[in-house]
Amino acid sequence: MAAPGGSGPIGPYPPNVDDTDDAHDSYDRLRRRVLWSLPYGLYVVGSRAQIDGEVRRNLMTLNWATQVSFDPKLIGIGVERPALTHQLIDVGRVFTLCTIARDDRAIVRKFTKPVEVNETASTMNGFAYTEGVTGAPILASAPAYIDCEVRQQVEVGNHTFFIGEVVDAAFRGDEDTEVLRMQDTLMNYGG
Ligand SMILES: Cc1cc2nc3c(=O)[nH]c(=O)nc-3n(C[C@H](O)[C@H](O)[C@H](O)COP(=O)(O)O)c2cc1C
Repeated sequence: MAAPGGSGPIGPYPPNVDDTDDAHDSYDRLRRRVLWSLPYGLYVVGSRAQIDGEVRRNLMTLNWATQVSFDPKLIGIGVERPALTHQLIDVGRVFTLCTIARDDRAIVRKFTKPVEVNETASTMNGFAYTEGVTGAPILASAPAYIDCEVRQQVEVGNHTFFIGEVVDAAFRGDEDTEVLRMQDTLMNYGG
């Protein structure tokens, strides 16, 4: 699964690239492969907000996540602007970052568009969830989760980098569970 965003080549172009459509296209594809070669983790992000008087929740597959400060403990995630998750974090000001067991990799394909929530059964797309201290959903099968309150947000191109302070974090089950990385899948994002 390749990255979305099928627009034409995007500059700027280095001096060694000719000023032709073919050269721009070829450099664009090369740069994408270089960017895809960066190692990443792969996560499910939980979000929750009250919108028009109704509580909305979502779980979304995401790889643009990193710790950005150790005092205070801050985690940043890059979320594309059209995503439901973007709206929910923008309004709700909370998110969770859930790791995924390496054996459970099929799960990431289940969270690439807004989920169906069954509040009575506490499931999203049939997967059980619990609520963190922030109220944001946590994938019940996650080996670990980090629950965050948004402290800053930075508009970056077609994404927003939400920076959250860790207000709770825990392992679920065995701490030594191997967690999923982008390289364990055939998927790409960005580039
Ligand atoms: C492997 C993979 C990695 C992804 N990484 C991100 C990411 O880092 N940020 C992001 O906004 N969307 C990412 N997506 C896309 C989202 O999962 C999702 O398709 C989109 O943002 C819409 O989410 P929504 O359910 O909140 O509307 C990724 C998708 C895949 C398949």
